[in-house]
Order: sequence, then C-alpha cells, then structure tokens
Amino acid sequence: MDEITRLLSAARDARNRARADYSGYAVGAAVLAIDGSIYQGCNIESAAYPTTICAERVAIFGAIAAGAREFRMLAVTTDDGGTPCGACRQVILEQCGAIDIHVHSLQSGETVLYNAGDLLPKPFGQNK
Ligand code: THU
Repeated sequence: MDEITRLLSAARDARNRARADYSGYAVGAAVLAIDGSIYQGCNIESAAYPTTICAERVAIFGAIAAGAREFRMLAVTTDDGGTPCGACRQVILEQCGAIDIHVHSLQSGETVLYNAGDLLPKPFGQNK
C-alpha cells in the first residue's frame, strides 16, 4: 500500500471514532510525520459547543505531544469532502508548513488534493 493510501485509510479509520453527537458530522484525519509515523484524529464535540475540537487539530496536537515535529502530508475524510476550517488551516500551516492535504469524500469516493499554503493565503504570524 502506498503512503497516500495508507494515510487515507488511517483517516477513514479515525473517523469511525468521531464523537459528533451534536452535529452528526464525523471527520477523520491522519498526519504523516517525517519518520513515517502516522497520527490519527477525529472530531470530538461537547455539550458546551465551542469546546468542540476538529479532527485535524486532534491529529496534529497528538502528534506534537507524542514528539513529532515535522510532517509530510495530511489526509482528511468526511461524508462530503469538506475542507479544513479556518482555525485548522492556521494550525496546519503553522505546525506542518505548506504540506499537501488529501481530502476524501465518502459519498463521491473522490479524493481532492489541496495544499495548506493555498488554503490559507496571508496567514497570521506575530512580528517577533
Ligand atoms: N470539523 C472538523 O473536524 N474539521 C474541520 O475542519 C471542520 C469541522 C468538525 C467540527 C464539528 O465537530 C463538526 O465537524 C461540524 O462542524
């Protein structure tokens, strides 16, 4: 199995663990670290709605907490091929750089390739 297929399969698998009781919209994500390790994430919703966290950030934050620092690509799986939200775009670009993002739609069976740099032009960054 090639790297992209492996990553898409990990994202799809993670989606099955989504806790999306309020929206009913399950998302799975998987990020590939430079050493070949894969870290998975799913969205986790809360009764206090804004404390919900997206699948992409769960995957990336989990990877970083586990010691990963550099990333090669990200895969996301949803019902309809929805792309990462604005907050996730900021985190992806900041923590992973302008990586490729493979977004898979379970409904259409299609996977669309995006790039994190294209999805967030002019990102916020502090002038240190
Ligand atoms: N969601 C994600 O997991 N990733 C995104 O990039 C967009 C939205 C989740 C958050 C919430 O649990 C559900 O999808 C509906 O917004």
